Amino acid sequence: MERLQKVIANSGVTSRRKAEEMISKGNVRVNGKVVTELGVKVSGNDIIEVDGVTINRDTKKVYYILNKPREVITSVSDDKNRKTVLDCINTDIRVYPVGRLDYDTTGLIILTNDGELANKLMHPSNKIKKTYIAKIEGLLNKDDIDRLKRGINIDDRKVEIVNFKIRDKDLVKNTSLIEITIIEGRNHIVKRIFESLKHPVIRLSRIRLAFLDIKNLKSGEYRELSLKEVKKLYSL
Ligand code: URA
Repeated sequence: MERLQKVIANSGVTSRRKAEEMISKGNVRVNGKVVTELGVKVSGNDIIEVDGVTINRDTKKVYYILNKPREVITSVSDDKNRKTVLDCINTDIRVYPVGRLDYDTTGLIILTNDGELANKLMHPSNKIKKTYIAKIEGLLNKDDIDRLKRGINIDDRKVEIVNFKIRDKDLVKNTSLIEITIIEGRNHIVKRIFESLKHPVIRLSRIRLAFLDIKNLKSGEYRELSLKEVKKLYSL
């Protein structure tokens, strides 16, 4: 059972606030009867009409791209009461993150209620490229570079590194900024790549996923993906 205004909002007809107004004004019927009381709960079998038109109970599909801040967990809930990616998005529709970023990793994460697209983006066979900027301890030497070019073994399986670039070096602080593009999504994979080279990651951010980037989103900001972008993701 769900609240009537939520069901109306989820159907994409209008926002939850407008739905409440419409209910109060008597524009909404449940099983043919006008309901003006807010907070009435309805089941999946109830027929809901807004302004005389029966709403489609299939929840509309929504797609968000978020620039995840640090100290936010990529999960829909947390038993330690930490902030989750859902707390960053203002929506009544139940969405979930596609893949994961560590608690201390920032950057691009998609949230949606479209399971088909989520599966597609996460399935290794689709080889979706993800690009990260890693600030690491130390400077890469020739041997490190050769190993990155050959591909690094983690748990006896090679991580295919599509591309990497040294973006910057700080000789005083002895750190480097590396841009690295990979396909797979094993947990902590970028940190583990650099750990195996003895250059621990100090800071990590995902800046691109396929053709999407977070250039225009500040930390904590999000936007809806356009229909064109969703179609393009489906076509990958
Ligand atoms: N690799 C990591 O080590 N951490 C992330 O959050 C994402 C990729």
